[in-house]
Amino acid sequence: MLESVLIILPKALWLILPAYVANSSAVLFGGGIPIDLRVKIRGKRILGDGKTYRGLILGTCCGVLVGIFQNQMAGLLGGVIFPPVVLLSLAFGALFGDITESLIKRRLGIKQGAPFFPFDQLDFIAGAFITLWLTSEEWFLTHFSLDVIITILIITPVLHLLTNRIGYIIGKKDVPW
Ligand code: CTP
Ligand code: MG
Repeated sequence: MLESVLIILPKALWLILPAYVANSSAVLFGGGIPIDLRVKIRGKRILGDGKTYRGLILGTCCGVLVGIFQNQMAGLLGGVIFPPVVLLSLAFGALFGDITESLIKRRLGIKQGAPFFPFDQLDFIAGAFITLWLTSEEWFLTHFSLDVIITILIITPVLHLLTNRIGYIIGKKDVPW
């Protein structure tokens, strides 16, 4: 049991790292003009001020860059190599999932920054999985086995709450979740 966890955990982290980096870089480097250009529908913002072009673009770039770096290190560390379309899908898909969640939150009348557990924690994972599945089904099914997916679904909310607390302390997030 412990042995299999020790094998699956690093494998899962390696595979999902570009999505993690995309999501946290959007928080670190985001801000500025909101994607929805402050447009409201029935009195409620489409996405809100928390989804910006800068976050989307810099987040995607950072996720892809980390993946390119991982490809460079793959031989040394024994990790899987990511084809370019896979990297783009993981990074952009993560942020697309986050944007979709904000769209749903606003329609439900949940204010920007208000918690919506566990969707705040898993939105970008779902976005990365679905986008990758759509663009690279075979690669997705080969590498994201059920045990890897379950591991990611368990560790992500824990890591996410931890990093968001750090983001809050360093003043990058308005709320600690
Ligand atoms: N961010 C950004 N652009 C993005 C995604 C995130 O600029 N595409 C930045 C914003 O500064 C945002 C922060 O990262 O406030 C945290 O993102 P998130 O927790 O997803 O958004 P919330 O502000 O909590 O808003 P929401 O209620 O819409 O989830
Ligand atoms: Mg979110």
